[in-house]
Amino acid sequence: MSARITAPEIAARKGGSPIKMTTAYDYPTARIADRAGADVILVGDSLANVVLGMGDTLGVTVDVMVHHTAAVSRAEPRALVVGDMPWLSYHTSSEDTVRNAGRFVREGGAGAVKLEGGRKRLPMVRAVLDAEIPVMGHLGLTPQSVHAMGGFKVQGKQAAAAYELLSDAIALADAGVFSIVLEGVPDVLAAIVTAEVNVPTIGIGAGAGCDGQVLVIHDVLGLGGSDSIPKFVREYARLADAATEALKRFFADVESGAFPSEAETYHMPQESAEILRDLVSSAGTGLVDLSGPSDDLLADESMER
Ligand code: KIV
Repeated sequence: MSARITAPEIAARKGGSPIKMTTAYDYPTARIADRAGADVILVGDSLANVVLGMGDTLGVTVDVMVHHTAAVSRAEPRALVVGDMPWLSYHTSSEDTVRNAGRFVREGGAGAVKLEGGRKRLPMVRAVLDAEIPVMGHLGLTPQSVHAMGGFKVQGKQAAAAYELLSDAIALADAGVFSIVLEGVPDVLAAIVTAEVNVPTIGIGAGAGCDGQVLVIHDVLGLGGSDSIPKFVREYARLADAATEALKRFFADVESGAFPSEAETYHMPQESAEILRDLVSSAGTGLVDLSGPSDDLLADESMER
């Protein structure tokens, strides 16, 4: 295992080679993301949507997010693991925010946390940074504000709103976040923010002018099984279709008796099988004392292929 990428290393990539980020929610998705060369793995609260089938991200708790962050960390990825702080985990007080952020690090094994919002959240951002936990910002279409935004809509299309977002980004960067996710904003705005802040921007639905890009892993892999995908998503596979096909073939083999084959079956020594058959035929269905022959029945065989 090579050393894990750190938040300062991601910060140092400003204007350098593009930062590659995706989400993961468990051990296998973390392994896939890491083997593919992710720089950052976000244990996103999009977990609520793509894993738990919820309509928005408001339903996931710190307990749930930390549980999944720990599963991702168990894959021992080289990528920086960022835990996504869920709604209401950083809204009530700085003390609660730091305690919750600390759980992502101590119990979840994360190297950083992400939280949504700009100047409004600065006291919480500063408190987490003061606790020596690196923070990733998140501006634009912030899904935890779905009700306040009036739905999932592109943000910053008007000059005034765009300027507000730019001011939020500068404030976050000045506070010391190591990067900022820009979600669902016009490309011009994302490019201006990228030019104006001294930390990397990582775009999702924010055009090509950011310092990096992130997509939800289920979207990249086509794991959702849905026919409608957002404009900013590019599906690189249709794994839900491939998985359905594979399972159909398994079920067909079960139905026809083609599964399992001899090679997929454990065997006992013929001698033991004969003893067993003799025991059964002489004792009928009654109980027998197996203290002698039972050792013979325990043939050593590996579970592996
Ligand atoms: O929760 C998430 O997956 C995210 C990304 C879309 C940035 O916040």
